[in-house]
Amino acid sequence: MSRRTRWIRRSGAMLLAIAASSAAADEMVERGEYLTNILGCGGCHTEGALLGNAHGEWLAGAKVGVAYTPEEQGSPGVVFPANLTGDLATGLGAWRAEDIVRFLKTGMDHYGRTANPVMPWPNYAMLEEEDLKAIAAFLKTLPGVRYEIPEAIAPGEALTHAFVRIGVYLFVPEEGEAAEAPGAGAADD
Ligand code: HEC
Repeated sequence: MSRRTRWIRRSGAMLLAIAASSAAADEMVERGEYLTNILGCGGCHTEGALLGNAHGEWLAGAKVGVAYTPEEQGSPGVVFPANLTGDLATGLGAWRAEDIVRFLKTGMDHYGRTANPVMPWPNYAMLEEEDLKAIAAFLKTLPGVRYEIPEAIAPGEALTHAFVRIGVYLFVPEEGEAAEAPGAGAADD
């Protein structure tokens, strides 16, 4: 075999290896998109989605927050679904894929703060490592959309934006009320 043929063979094999690894990377991103869809990330992280009227860029965050205490009078404390696109200033542009995986496993963000479990990371922590990596790989492909999300509002702080409550509170019937609350009190029967 001439040197030239050997060279052609070797570079051909290398090209095949590169093509195979980029096909694997594409597959990973595709799986990440599929998981992001079925896990409903956009149901919170898209403007308007929490009010049943999604109209913002998909996954670019929302100024409609989620209350995290049962406080009914005054301000219950509100967190806002972050911008997950690649924008540096307002999104995940500065996060590495590993940062996203760690966040979904531990709730700990890029700055060492632990996210409120309204963001269902305790559930996502149960995903397989490969699935977490796929979600992160997909999110890292999202082009940056500049969209600033409000700071979290601590309980008692002035409310600045609309918020919803998600089914995180228990209804505990008073004595005698149980019959009016479907399902409640069944354990006593
Ligand atoms: C029930 C609503 C909800 C769903 C569903 C949800 N999130 Fe969140 N997410 C939030 C909220 C609210 C925050 C902000 C939490 C806080 O400030 O403590 C957040 C924060 C985050 C952050 C931190 C970003 C930052 O800048 O700090 C990431 C990353 C994230 N979510 C990714 C995801 C992914 C990926 C999914 C789907 C697998 C998902 N979220 C599903 C509500 C949700």
